[in-house]
Amino acid sequence: MGKKEKITALLKANIGFLNALELNIGQASDCRENKKFNEVVGFCEQVVTVIETYYKEKKDLVFLDCSCGKSYLSFVLNYVLSKEFAINTYFYGVDKNPVLIEKCKAVKDILGFKNMCFINNKIIDVKPEKVIDIVVALHACDIATDEAIAKAIKIKARHILVVPCCENNIRNRLKEGHPLMNITDFGLLRYRFANILTEALRAQFLTGAGYSVRLVEIVSPKYTPKNLMIIAKRRRKNRKYSMNKFRNLDKMFNTEFVLQSFFDDAQRSNQNECYKVLCG
Ligand SMILES: C[S@@+](CC[C@H](N)C(=O)[O-])C[C@H]1O[C@@H](n2cnc3c(N)ncnc32)[C@H](O)[C@@H]1O
Repeated sequence: MGKKEKITALLKANIGFLNALELNIGQASDCRENKKFNEVVGFCEQVVTVIETYYKEKKDLVFLDCSCGKSYLSFVLNYVLSKEFAINTYFYGVDKNPVLIEKCKAVKDILGFKNMCFINNKIIDVKPEKVIDIVVALHACDIATDEAIAKAIKIKARHILVVPCCENNIRNRLKEGHPLMNITDFGLLRYRFANILTEALRAQFLTGAGYSVRLVEIVSPKYTPKNLMIIAKRRRKNRKYSMNKFRNLDKMFNTEFVLQSFFDDAQRSNQNECYKVLCG
């Protein structure tokens, strides 16, 4: 049995747990909850692979779930990891919607999951007490994914796993002043190109900030076209990394990419090296 099938079987064996999360699977295959279930399982599979590869000997592991919403991902990760690994986990969930945060707290109490803390705040402003190992974000809307990446870089997270949502920010900037206008003149192509460009900018920014980056698909596109995951692993501190590729791309398409705005001038002062927040 593959990892994904194993996680699915583990979860389906505890329908009470899924019901508490309001993930009522088993209805029409295109229903919202089935889609979310498959996305969460696909995300979980990648986290399990990261843990097996890098954290098997670690005793404690702390997650920050950015734009947690109803926190399906954190609850499922918490459950699956407790069954699969002898690691003490702790989860912070942050969301700017107070109603959703109250809902998460209520579900946490129903499930009796003591190792979770839900915070009503903007991602960039959250100050978790514990040192974060892994930052996760599933469909953080538009630039909230960039906020999650910036936050993760600032707190020096060892791993960052994000599955972005919509890429409106770049799409709205792609209407003039770049070398591929003949492609992006067409609405549908502009939409698709904006997705590729946004993820390339994020990946190059992370590379310049000292992370090694991989892109994978977490589920088949039949569940959702928003299935791309950026997996970033922090490299050793004592090397210098270059932002040149990011800067070239940003300049070529005149994007003024929003990720930069989360770092102040001092952190950005050296144009060709990694952002100082990591080197300091
Ligand atoms: C599409 S939902 C995804 C929720 C959840 N991760 C999931 O997969 O079900 C996006 C969430 O991002 C939250 N959000 C958007 N911008 C945010 C920000 N800057 N800081 C914190 N939360 C944010 C919204 O309140 C919303 O709950």
